[in-house]
Amino acid sequence: MTSSSNCFFLISLVVSLLFFLESTLSMASTKDVIDSICNDSFLRHNKTFCVETLTAYPPVVSATNTVKLVKAAVDLGMIHAKKTASFVAGLEKEPTFKKYFKMCNESYISIVGNFRSARLELDDSESIDTASSDILVSLDNTQMVKDTIGKNTDKASKRLIEMTLVMEEFIAIGFGAVNQI
Ligand SMILES: *[C@@H]1O[C@H](CO)[C@@H](O)[C@H](O)[C@H]1NC(C)=O
Ligand SMILES: *[C@@H]1O[C@H](CO)[C@@H](O)[C@H](O)[C@H]1NC(C)=O
Ligand SMILES: *[C@@H]1O[C@H](CO)[C@@H](O)[C@H](O)[C@H]1NC(C)=O
Repeated sequence: MTSSSNCFFLISLVVSLLFFLESTLSMASTKDVIDSICNDSFLRHNKTFCVETLTAYPPVVSATNTVKLVKAAVDLGMIHAKKTASFVAGLEKEPTFKKYFKMCNESYISIVGNFRSARLELDDSESIDTASSDILVSLDNTQMVKDTIGKNTDKASKRLIEMTLVMEEFIAIGFGAVNQI
């Protein structure tokens, strides 16, 4: 081996070692951030669900800093809110559901709007408190849905209640996440 290829080998080794160290360090801190999001006791509903959900979402796991991780965690809430809003949209003509449609539709349109605002506010460090309250206020909407259809026995209502309980988990996750900034 010539000395220049030796030198090249050494440099490559150092560079890969640095990359390795950096990735293990950021992996450890990702786990810590997820832990503290899911340990946030103010709204904590289901810690297992929180940890499993965040750990299974690639944009959370691959986030290179806390702010990016928090944004990805809030995106998860937005995704579930949109999914539920479109489920509700499909119930407009459901005979047993018709009279609850307007309230449920408006509630989920509001939740999507709240998450959208929160997400935009996260881009501006001065608006973090507003982001946090926008996420929190969505609990008024989920409560309204639960109060209105919680005792119904039809399939659509029951499914929407299930999705609403999961929505509350995502509200807790989003709130715990924003608290990390
Ligand atoms: C989260 O809580 C668990 C125990 O419930 C504890 O072991 C862990 O250190 C906590 N993590 C953080 C980041 O606070
Ligand atoms: C929490 O979430 C996990 C994973 O989704 C689920 O298996 C468990 O039943 C939930 N626990 C409660 C108390 O809701
Ligand atoms: C659902 O609510 C939103 C906001 O109030 C409204 O713009 C939309 O037209 C409603 N959707 C249906 C299908 O009524």
